[in-house]
This record gives sequence, structure tokens and C-alpha cells, in this order.
Amino acid sequence: MPLHSAVALFYAAASLFAIAGAEDPYRFYSWNVTYGDIYPLGVRQTGLLINGQFPGPDIHSVTNDNLIINVYNNLNESFLLSWNGVQQRRNSYEDGVFGTTCPIPPGKNFTYMLQVKDQIGTFYYYPSLGFHKAAGGFGGIRILSRPRIPVPFPDPAGDYTVLIGDWYKSNHTVLQAHLDGGKKLPFPDGVLINGRGPGGASFNVEQGKTYRLRISNVGLQNSLNFRIQNHRLTLVEVEGTHTLQTTYSSIDLHLGQSCSVLFTADQPAQDYYIVASTRFTNPVLTTTATLRYSNSAGPVSGPPPGGPTIQIDWSLNQARSIRTNLTASGPRPNPQGSYHYGLINTTRTIRLANSAGQVNGKQRYAVNSVSFVLPDTPLKLADYFKIGGVFRPGSISDNPYGGGIYLDTSVLNADYRAFVEIVFENTENIIQSWHLNGYSFFVVGMDGGQWTAASRNGYNLRDAVARCTTQVPKLIIFIQFNLAILVKTQC
Ligand SMILES: *[C@@H]1O[C@H](CO)[C@@H](O)[C@H](O)[C@H]1NC(C)=O
Ligand SMILES: *[C@@H]1O[C@H](CO)[C@@H](O)[C@H](O)[C@H]1NC(C)=O
Ligand SMILES: *[C@@H]1O[C@H](CO)[C@@H](O)[C@H](O)[C@H]1NC(C)=O
Ligand SMILES: *[C@@H]1O[C@H](CO)[C@@H](O)[C@H](O)[C@H]1NC(C)=O
Ligand SMILES: *[C@@H]1O[C@H](CO)[C@@H](O)[C@H](O)[C@H]1NC(C)=O
Ligand SMILES: *[C@@H]1O[C@H](CO)[C@@H](O)[C@H](O)[C@H]1NC(C)=O
Repeated sequence: MPLHSAVALFYAAASLFAIAGAEDPYRFYSWNVTYGDIYPLGVRQTGLLINGQFPGPDIHSVTNDNLIINVYNNLNESFLLSWNGVQQRRNSYEDGVFGTTCPIPPGKNFTYMLQVKDQIGTFYYYPSLGFHKAAGGFGGIRILSRPRIPVPFPDPAGDYTVLIGDWYKSNHTVLQAHLDGGKKLPFPDGVLINGRGPGGASFNVEQGKTYRLRISNVGLQNSLNFRIQNHRLTLVEVEGTHTLQTTYSSIDLHLGQSCSVLFTADQPAQDYYIVASTRFTNPVLTTTATLRYSNSAGPVSGPPPGGPTIQIDWSLNQARSIRTNLTASGPRPNPQGSYHYGLINTTRTIRLANSAGQVNGKQRYAVNSVSFVLPDTPLKLADYFKIGGVFRPGSISDNPYGGGIYLDTSVLNADYRAFVEIVFENTENIIQSWHLNGYSFFVVGMDGGQWTAASRNGYNLRDAVARCTTQVPKLIIFIQFNLAILVKTQC
């Protein structure tokens, strides 16, 4: 279950209403959000469209650009967009998750003002309220390096957004009612690639050229494996970190994660399958898109290539093999390795355990036994205007409490600029995804069994990747991250 909004983890920001950097370029968008009919799996459904599109339009930007996005909510319910992975420096009230940002009421508009400050990489946006994400409203975000900052690979001949995700034929209100009725999410009906079912999407290439794919898992629950028939994938970036360029036959992408791969169209000229399939499920759901050579001699042939299905070790080994290229530049000209995160002492350890269960007959998900309750007043407003009774700082403990699930508006306090170690513990039988809105963190370790202080001996304190979303297998993961947060929950 995605825990994107299960808890208001770190409630933090800097000065309120900071103005976007005036000297940097502006890009303006006007988006109209409506319901509309879509047929991704061949049956009519109510989709969530942005300017008539499903998936929504991509945002193309360059490091430090100011993005001004005026969103008109033409639905009959409140709507919020979240910019997954955008760091929102001094801007957390633009983040678009309930708690930091007010929903856009039906019939109203709101203008998001973001700056992609000191960032590069591949991300996506999605609607964060209710189950809107199950209806669409998501799209790609790419942040290119500024022209004078070296990128550690030649310019590709093409650069494609690839949004993959599990999909349901039921609409978002039906799915939400399902959970409210005390049940878990049903098994999905299919997997989509760029909003299309099997054989729907296609990507055009010229023989001999190299392409970049920016892949994001925008689904609701399932980890997916991605591969291209007869082509190898070279991982070059995850969520804003240039990785050591490693070549894989396929790549696992867990819920909410993004990455970039390069591949060369170096095969005989014909069409090939692009495949996304569910991991750790029985049965396995598979979907395909088409890779089309411009001089193609014929359609796809043979069965789509198989990938890993239930093999957890394969997934863990691949995750551990993803490393930062310490000599490559990130958003700035200096090498990514010039920030020695491994030398910074942590001042606090927080252990977070996820659980699932019923509360008052509804299916709920909890962190350290607390299932987050949306307050009527967004947290940042309550804090800024000092409205009492909305939340209590410290209303979630630093360690698993072991008791049953209870409801609360959980808020964890932390010190501004503290360097915190977080250990995620998953004792459930499905993979969890953890995303820290507005932050990236170093994934320093991932292993089975109970975490102890001795587990620190196995940490990668040299070239772990900084990213914003990590999977937690049925195991535990250790994460250390650089977190700039306030002592007091003050804007
Ligand atoms: C949004 O789309 C709806 C339906 O097409 C239309 O009625 C409305 O005028 C549009 N609003 C804006 C601001 O474009
Ligand atoms: C979702 O489907 C249900 C049942 O078919 C229907 O009653 C409801 O109007 C639909 N909701 C939307 C937003 O389309
Ligand atoms: C919004 O419209 C849908 C589809 O017409 C309908 O099913 C749903 O009940 C409406 N929701 C509200 C809050 O009016
Ligand atoms: C709503 O859109 C109008 C332009 O149509 C704009 O002038 C106004 O600032 C927007 N309101 C908000 C709250 O963004
Ligand atoms: C790391 O980045 C450098 C650019 O600084 C590049 O030349 C090198 O090929 C990259 N190494 C790997 C293994 O990706
Ligand atoms: C971390 O702690 C060690 C041991 O107490 C100390 O020697 C070192 O200077 C500290 N590092 C930093 C960056 O403060």
C-alpha cells in the first residue's frame, strides 16, 4: 500500500511565501481538470483529464526554472496535485498534499508556483486526494541540466516519458468505497503504459541511435518490472541522481519511483515488445507497448520476453547495485561525490513500522500504530495562524509502539538541519513504498531480519543514491538522509 500520505512525517518548511527566484526563467501552464471517458482496457471508464489528456501533459523544465501552473478544478469534488520529487525549498505549501496545501474546491482554480531549485532528473505529478490517482491526472516531470553543466552521457536521439502502473476498471469512487467497506484493494485488472493497455502505446526509433526513457511507476499498489525485447537497458539516473551506468536486462520499479535508462536501437529493423509486468503477484499481469524502428521490416514477433516474477533476491541485488556516480555532476558543476554524507553524524534514529488493519469497520494503514487522519484545517495553516487543537507535535513515537491501530493526526517533530537516520520496518507480506515529500535521502542499506545498531556496519556510506522514494521489501531498510527541517512546526 502506498504510504505517500499515510502520515505527515516531517512537517517542515522555511519562510512562508518565499518568492520564486526572480532571475531564473519562468514557464507558465494553464490546466483544466475535468472528468472524461477513457478506455485504457477496452471498457469505458470515468477518467481524470488535464486539458483533455490522459495521462496529463508533461512538464519540461531546466534546473532553477520557476513553474507557474494555474489549475482549474472542473470536477465536482476537491482536487490537489502533488509534484512527486520536487523539493519545494521554502515552498512546502505548494507541495499539494493535504496537510501542507488546501485542496482546490470544485469550480475554483489555484496557481501553483514552484521552483525546481538545484534539481535535475525524472519525476512525475499525480492527484493526491482520495483515489483520484486511480482515474488519471498524472504526468511526467523532467528537469534538464543547465546547458553548461556536463551530463555524463551523450545527448540521446530521443527522450521519452514512460508512465507505467497497475490499473483498475473500477472508478476511483468505487475503489475508495471498497476500502471504506473494510476491504483491501482488489487485484488490479491490468497494467498500463502511458495510459494504454496491451499493444496500445508505441515508441519510434531510428536504427543505430540511442534513446532515453524516463520511466515512473504511477500505479496504486504493485511493483513492476520493465524490459524491452532483445534490448539492454543502461540505468543512468534515479530521481535526480546520476548513477553509475550499469546495464540490465530488465529493471524493477516500485511504486512512486522514477528512473532513466538509455538503450540503443541496435537490433535488426523490426518492431519489438516493450513490457511491464507485476512483481511478487500470482497471477502475473503483463502489458506491452511497441518499439518501432523507422525502417521496420515487420511487426513484433514471438511471445513478449519474460521477466522476474516472485524472485525477491533478484530485486534486492539490483537495488543494491544502484550507485551514485561520484565523479559525474548533478545539478551543479561540482561532482556528486563532493558531498560526503557518510561523514556526517546522525543525531537521531527513528524507526517506522507499517501495519494494516480495520478501524471502525474501514480498511486503514498505519505507521507506528497511527493511521493518519486528515484534519479539517491544513497543518501549515493551523501552525501559521496558531490554531489550537488541530495537531499535537510528537503525536507519533520514534519507535514502533506494538499496539493496535488508532487514528490521529500524526506529526513528528524534528530539528532544523538535523541529520536523521530512519529505519523502515516492514513485517507485512507486501512491498511498501516510502516517499518523503520534498526531500531526497540516501538509501544506505536494505536487508532482512531485525534491525540492530550493528546493522550500521553494513551501511553504504560512500556511494548510495539519494532519491525520494524507496521500496521496503518484506524486510527492513535503513535509510540515512539529510533533512532540513524545523524544530518547531513553523512555516
Ligand atoms: C474546462 O473544460 C470544461 C469542459 O470542456 C469547460 O466547460 C470549461 O470552460 C474549461 N475551463 C477552462 C478554464 O478552460
Ligand atoms: C463510479 O462508478 C459508480 C458505479 O458504476 C457510479 O455510480 C459513479 O457515478 C461513478 N463515479 C464517477 C466519478 O464516475
Ligand atoms: C460527481 O459526479 C460523479 C459522476 O457524475 C458522481 O458519480 C458523483 O456522485 C459526484 N460527486 C459529488 C460529490 O457530487
Ligand atoms: C485563477 O485564474 C485567473 C485567470 O483566469 C487568475 O487571474 C487567478 O489568479 C487565478 N486564481 C488563483 C487563486 O490562482
Ligand atoms: C561517471 O561519470 C563520468 C563523468 O564524470 C563518466 O565519464 C563515467 O563514464 C561515469 N561512469 C560510469 C560507470 O557511469
Ligand atoms: C562525528 O563524530 C566523530 C566521533 O565523535 C567526530 O570525530 C567527528 O568529527 C564527527 N563528524 C562531524 C562531521 O561532526
